[in-house]
Parts: sequence; structure tokens; C-alpha cells
Amino acid sequence: MSLTLPSYPRPVGVHPPLDFPQYRSTALRHPRRPLVPLPQGLTEVTGPLLGADRVTPADADLTTRYPGEPLGQRIIVTGQVLDSDGRPVPDTLVEIWQPNAAGRYKHSGDQHPAPLDPNFDGGGRCLTDSQGRYRFITIKPGSYPWQNHRNAWRPAHIHFSLFGRAFTQRLVTQMYFPGDPLFARGPIFNSVPDPKARDRMISSFDLNLTVPEWALGFTWDIVLRGPKSTVFEHVEQS
Ligand SMILES: [Fe+2]
Repeated sequence: MSLTLPSYPRPVGVHPPLDFPQYRSTALRHPRRPLVPLPQGLTEVTGPLLGADRVTPADADLTTRYPGEPLGQRIIVTGQVLDSDGRPVPDTLVEIWQPNAAGRYKHSGDQHPAPLDPNFDGGGRCLTDSQGRYRFITIKPGSYPWQNHRNAWRPAHIHFSLFGRAFTQRLVTQMYFPGDPLFARGPIFNSVPDPKARDRMISSFDLNLTVPEWALGFTWDIVLRGPKSTVFEHVEQS
């Protein structure tokens, strides 16, 4: 059995073009022919059934997995996953990955001369609660060079992936931090055409969330679609 799922109108100016010359690697990886919607099998649109017990509270704290504490600024990152009408989306798997405070990923592909942190791996996950809320404790990521152009550095960011109720319902995006001086020089950030959509990728510093003597708080809501949609990567072009 195969299904063709309904599609939704894409808001204008929110998602980046798949070919964006200033973001050099898009020249080689963007599709050159029109996309063909593939019918999907029942298992693709009904699974995986994610057992809530497979995600533990420890998965959402990136600072307590190793014998020592990671170096850097401890932060709390939280927000709601919302649909286009502002309703919270519960039971969504939210996964994050990021470099350490020095801007280095624990990954074989990242060999630039910044130190690894033996107490930090940069990966986390949690399920949204009944109010669509997620919450992570982590370290503020550093900027890193990425060779896109001369002296290219990424603004500090955390990668986010959201899973809905099926493999075909995955969305990927990045969260930035307010006031980063690298925004103006970031082709990935600036590939998003609408300045308001760019702003929606930037978290807010939240003093109420900040815990005295312990951690800074940042809030960032994720809107799945509609005029206030968060920017997602590789969403098909209509
Ligand atoms: Fe990154």
C-alpha cells in the first residue's frame, strides 16, 4: 500500500534556496531537476513508534555524562514546539548536536586546531511534554571556521532535529544566540531571504530562566509551519 500525503503551502521568503552561491557547497548538492513526490508506504508514515522510556532525562543534560564537567559557559535552552495555530506539539523527539565551547565538534570530520573536551560530546535529545516544551542543559558552543570563503567563521549555533510521528516527518534547523557579530558575514544564516525569518532562528536571553550562580537561560520556540514558521533545512521547493 502506498500513500501520497497532503502537502502544505510554503510561506514565501522563509526557507533558503537550495542553490545559494555564497554558500559554496550548495552548488554541488542541490537538485538540478524538478523534484518528484514519491508515494510513501504505510510503515513510513506511521512509524517509528518511539517508546517514551527510551529517552531518559539524562539525555537532555549534556553536562553530567562524564567524570568531570565540560569547560565553558553552562546554559539552559528551552522553548515550545508549536503548530501554525500556536498549539503546543507534545511527544516530539527533539535532538541537538553542537561543538564544544572551543568551537570543535567531536567528529572525525572536524580537525581544526581547537581542543576537544573529554567531558563533552555535544549530543542530546528529549521529548516535548504535554505543553510542547523541550529543555536542555548544555554549554554555549563556540564559533568555528568552515572554509567557505576566506576567514569564514560560523556564528555560534546549536543544530536541532525534530521527529514527528514518522520517519518522513523530520525537520532540521539551527538555533543561534542573540547579538552574534558573525551574523552579517554568515552565508548560511543569510541564505534565508526574509529578515524576520532570520530573526526567528535567534534565541532570546531570558533572565527569568537564568539560574543564579549556575547557568544562563535562553528561550527559543520552534513553529512547524505557517507564516511564523521556523526556518528548516532542505524543505522541498514547490
Ligand atoms: Fe554546526
